Amino acid sequence: MSNFRWSNPVTVYFGEDQFQSLGEAVASYGKKCLFVYGGGSIKRTGLYDRILTLLAQAGVEVFEKGGVEPNPKIGHIREAVAICKKEGIDVLLAVGGGSVIDATKCISAGACVDFDPWDFIAKHIVPEKALPIVDVLTIAATGSEMNSGGVISNPETNDKASVRGPILYPKASFLNPELTFTVGRYQTACGSADILSHIWENWFTLTPPMEMLDKIQETVIKTVIKYAPIALNDPENYEARENLMWASSWAMNGFMMAGFGKSGPSCHPMEHQLSAFYDITHGLGLAILTPRWLRYCLDEQTVSRYVTFGVEIWGVDPDLPPFEIANRAIAKTEEFLFETLGLEDNLTALGIGEEHLEEMAEKACGARGFISGFKRLTPRDVLNIYKMCL
Ligand code: NZQ
Ligand code: ZN
Repeated sequence: MSNFRWSNPVTVYFGEDQFQSLGEAVASYGKKCLFVYGGGSIKRTGLYDRILTLLAQAGVEVFEKGGVEPNPKIGHIREAVAICKKEGIDVLLAVGGGSVIDATKCISAGACVDFDPWDFIAKHIVPEKALPIVDVLTIAATGSEMNSGGVISNPETNDKASVRGPILYPKASFLNPELTFTVGRYQTACGSADILSHIWENWFTLTPPMEMLDKIQETVIKTVIKYAPIALNDPENYEARENLMWASSWAMNGFMMAGFGKSGPSCHPMEHQLSAFYDITHGLGLAILTPRWLRYCLDEQTVSRYVTFGVEIWGVDPDLPPFEIANRAIAKTEEFLFETLGLEDNLTALGIGEEHLEEMAEKACGARGFISGFKRLTPRDVLNIYKMCL
């Protein structure tokens, strides 16, 4: 267990009745608001009209920037930054999933500087100033509603990377599980795979973890495994949606990985290259990578963690030999992701071939030249894992 510092300043408004406070929460940061949203789901569900009513009641003047795409693109962010500067926007309201909230984080920082917002990402500049952000989460997945990072894509360079800094935490996040009733099967499955990845990529560690955190992580993993299938089959099941929503926030608000600092994620850097080059859904890429990564990392040194995974998460017989337990655990993970959640199980089916894999493997390892996760992965290892996914 490593030592750590942790704080989280986001005020969470959880549940339908809390939603009535949205207008006053936005108004407390200013009267000129840029309302940022995605491709139109909020108009189809009626949420858009509801929000405009609440903002009007609070006396907020609204400017709009809809059309944020999944894997949000820097060009769209530049346009929104221009609106903020021209109109003297005081506060940003993000309504949507991780893509909308992430885009809004980059807009909020971009509005306070004279340089191109892509520089935050390309030059690793930590924002010092940002406009305040309030968000309404509409899909359980990324945890962006409770963290200080935003993942942005640049299609011109096939780059996808983060802007991050404490100033980017949302001031307030409205989490109303009922707003996720309309999330379709595919996005519910992808979101659930993402939540699981945020936890188990860190849970797989060779650093002895603090038991309390270890067990909380296992509980949240089991919560997602229990409730994701219920939400798929019964989309308006409140209990399932509330569990997935709160799990998404806690999986990625820093609490779970505090003290797991020596490991860090492995599938995430590999996936970000997939969605950078091919614009695929983040959770889908993670689902395809995860079982291959687990197979690749299994050896004498790591097997004991797989035994705990198999026994505690998947109910595998603890009396079996360790490698048998490990292989059964990986098979159960595949069964859950590809059969229960119904996600595609290979990259070839998504139209991805070998053409960019070497370049992607190099980029996934970044300037350090390796991924320092559960097992250290070099570009050669990452390439091997990508090839296992074809
Ligand atoms: O755009 P609209 O029309 O709203 O539709 C969206 C979008 O097509 C739809 N959707 C969202 N809420 C809905 C709904 N459809 C019906 N009813 C609703 N209530 O779902 C689709 C996906 O939305 P998106 O925001 O892209 O999903 P998600 O929340 O999974 O975000 C993915 C992005 O977040 C990044 C990913 O890389 C990806 O770019 N991540 C951000 C992280 C962070 N900030 O901490 C960490 C993650 O690991 C991840 O990298
Ligand atoms: Zn993720």
